[in-house]
Amino acid sequence: MTREQYLKLTAALAAGSLLPKGLLAEILADPTLRRSDFGKDFIWGTATAAYQIEGAWNVDGKGESIWDHFTHYKKGKIKTKENGDVAADFYNRYASDIELMRKMNIPASRFSIGWSRVLPEGKGAVNQKGLDFYHRVIDKCLEQNVASWVTCYHWDLPQALEDKGGWANRDVIGWFEDYVELCAKTYGDKVKNWMVFNEPMAFVPLGYLIGMHAPGHVNFGKFYKAVHNVVMCHGAGGRILKNTVKDGNIGTTFSCSHVDAKNDKPANVKAARRADAFINRLFLDPVMGRGYPTKDLPACKHIEKHIQPGDEAKMKFDFDFVGLQNYSRMMVYNLGLIPIIHFANVPAKKLSENITEMGWEVYPVGIYKLIKKYAEYPEIKKIYVTENGAAFEDVNVNGEINDTKRLEFIQSYLREVLRAKNEGAPVDGYFIWSFMDNFEWAEGYRTRFGLVGVDFKTQERTVKASGKWFADFLANK
Ligand code: FCB
Repeated sequence: MTREQYLKLTAALAAGSLLPKGLLAEILADPTLRRSDFGKDFIWGTATAAYQIEGAWNVDGKGESIWDHFTHYKKGKIKTKENGDVAADFYNRYASDIELMRKMNIPASRFSIGWSRVLPEGKGAVNQKGLDFYHRVIDKCLEQNVASWVTCYHWDLPQALEDKGGWANRDVIGWFEDYVELCAKTYGDKVKNWMVFNEPMAFVPLGYLIGMHAPGHVNFGKFYKAVHNVVMCHGAGGRILKNTVKDGNIGTTFSCSHVDAKNDKPANVKAARRADAFINRLFLDPVMGRGYPTKDLPACKHIEKHIQPGDEAKMKFDFDFVGLQNYSRMMVYNLGLIPIIHFANVPAKKLSENITEMGWEVYPVGIYKLIKKYAEYPEIKKIYVTENGAAFEDVNVNGEINDTKRLEFIQSYLREVLRAKNEGAPVDGYFIWSFMDNFEWAEGYRTRFGLVGVDFKTQERTVKASGKWFADFLANK
């Protein structure tokens, strides 16, 4: 806290008045955290995903995606019964949103391409109007000096492909290759930073094992097949991007959580290793050329059955960077009756009072530990934190959203990123999830992650205190 802030604060308290507007946020804006500490090449940005922000679900020839289908026909799976039909209306408001990014000094925007917007049936006929939309977005980013970081797949498989078995059908490798090639050829001259997938460890188990996300299957057989097909697509997508995008910076993203054992009982320690293999290594290790983590997660045997001759070499791909996405940590114990993984989580509320609206524990040191863990993989050349952020209840008081908890969250995690960097980890970027409030999958619109608040009735945008802080932080190079 500066002397000036201290004086303002004590004067307000002495007068028994409310804290001056924004003062708390200002104080929390730790002056010890400076952009320059991260070095001038560090990439700063925010992240979004097509389905969560675009809306316009059936406009200009877009085909149905599994998320359109899921939210329309399996409404009960969404806590609020809402859908992304309109979302944050980015399809119509992209220009002013990107201008706002520029005003907030945000140098890079991570966003995804909606597969069924450009290929309504998932394969075959191309929808020119869909391709044109992303041209407009990318051109606007170029005009505003915001770098585009494009994710090929952020969970919205075309429903037409799901009808043919989706990720569980091995033909998906060919479908995905054609789609990625279309993206790379269409935008590769203008976009250099690409990511193949967003978090396979989220969309595969949530969609095929526990059915919480689209397409809503609870099916072990499909899950095992989908894991292997996604792993194959990882390598295939990486190769296509590398060969098609001249001077491309090609990566992919993984969700990860630091895992602790509930106590030092051998069965729980082993469960923690199993959980780590499942949560952090199931998709990462094969891409790194290490195969499935079968030793620590015996259920991988069922996945290995789907490996065909020649697959092993194709599973591996030498990415230019790996995107690390982290929100919380897990504490686990052995529980044999849980199929496949045989562990359960200690509920976050038992671990801490500091939990987010998602019910996730705030655990900043976790991101430090994960960066250090990734840094131990000799195959990983560069790490970017491609998602980190928090959902808290935001209150809009006369046009101001004083989201001090989010601000504190971001600062505390950033400090840990910096600690890892200062200790030599090759971490060179940080993207906040999310630029603006959006449709949070099975949670609906209630859980807000944005630096920019969205009133979903009027589509009005309000830069929150966290967004103002980020803008100032970015301005002070
Ligand atoms: C990540 C997803 C992203 C968003 C955040 C909160 O797992 O990649 O789309 O939902 O969680």
